[in-house]
Parts: sequence; C-alpha cells; structure tokens
Amino acid sequence: MAAPPSSIIAIYPGSFDPITNGHLDLIARGSRLVERLIVAVLRNQSKEPFFPVEERVEMLQVAVKPYPNVEVDAFEGLLVDYAAARGATLILRGIRAVSDYEMELQMALMNRKLNSRIETVFLMASEEASFISSHLVKEVVSLGGDVSGLVPAAVAARLKKRMAWKMKIRKN
Ligand code: PNS
Repeated sequence: MAAPPSSIIAIYPGSFDPITNGHLDLIARGSRLVERLIVAVLRNQSKEPFFPVEERVEMLQVAVKPYPNVEVDAFEGLLVDYAAARGATLILRGIRAVSDYEMELQMALMNRKLNSRIETVFLMASEEASFISSHLVKEVVSLGGDVSGLVPAAVAARLKKRMAWKMKIRKN
C-alpha cells in the first residue's frame, strides 16, 4: 500500500454564489485538517449566476484572510482534473441534512470513477449553519429580509446592492 502523502492538499469546490457563513464554517474546520485548502469556484455553470465569478472569488478572498493555508481560485471543466492539476488528493464537501446526501453521494462516486486516487471527504455542517444556503439567502434578500449572521457583513452589503441593481434592470 502506498504511503499517505506527507502534505495533504484539499479542494473545497462549489458555486459560492455567494459565500455564506456555512461555507466559512467548513473552510475554518477543513483548514485544520489539511496542509493546504484550495477553495475553488466553478466557472462554467449553465445557470445564470447571481454574482460574476470574479466577484465571488473576491468575496471569498476577503473571507478566508484569517486562514493562512487557504487560497481561492476559479476552475472550469472536470473537478478531478483540476484537483489533479493542483496536486490535491482530497475533495472536501459539506453535508447539511439528509437531503444533501443523495446528490453528494452521486457526485463523490462519479468523481471516484473518474479518478480513484482522489477521495471525497465530508464534514457535517455545524448546527448553527445547517439551514443556511446561498439560494435561501438570495431569496430572503430579494424579499427585503435581514441576512446578517448568515453571510459575512461585507457579503450582505454586496447582496443588497446587487439585488437593487437587478431589480432596477428588470424594471427598465
Ligand atoms: O456549490 P455547488 O453548486 O453544490 O457545487 C457543485 C460543484 C461545483 C462541486 C459541482 O458542480 C462540480 O464539481 N462541477 C464540476 C464539473 C464536474 O467535475 N462534474 C462531474 C463530476 S460531479
């Protein structure tokens, strides 16, 4: 059996549209488990994102500043190819509830089929973060609700600004 790598690099992939305190919780805990954690934002999504990828990366970069072994990047194409190119042996994902499990299992098995040298590791979301999703955060903002405590303060401000801009465009 091959010896485990002395320095483990993990990828935490996602849409991060935008980053929430749930993502941050996972980043904080994940960063303690590996030597290097790369938070990787998917570029080529078919659905229209709320924030452009550059802005999502920017918000993440500010949020991960307290963690010196965490970096932010964007990727396109197959996740396992990106992970291999970055020298990563782990993919980190969070599970909030049973409803996340099915999709996560499917993705983990597909990724294993594509590259069996890369393992997916799951962390259970903290209780306080287990109901937070980027999707619901956007819905709450669109309906005028308060998202403080759910996303970093700087992200809440950007959400409000972008939502106002989107509404204005829709009206014109
Ligand atoms: O935050 P999300 O939207 O749940 O993240 C999904 C993500 C980015 C992890 C997933 O869509 C992904 O890995 N996409 C890359 C394309 C890929 O490798 N697909 C095949 C294996 S699932």
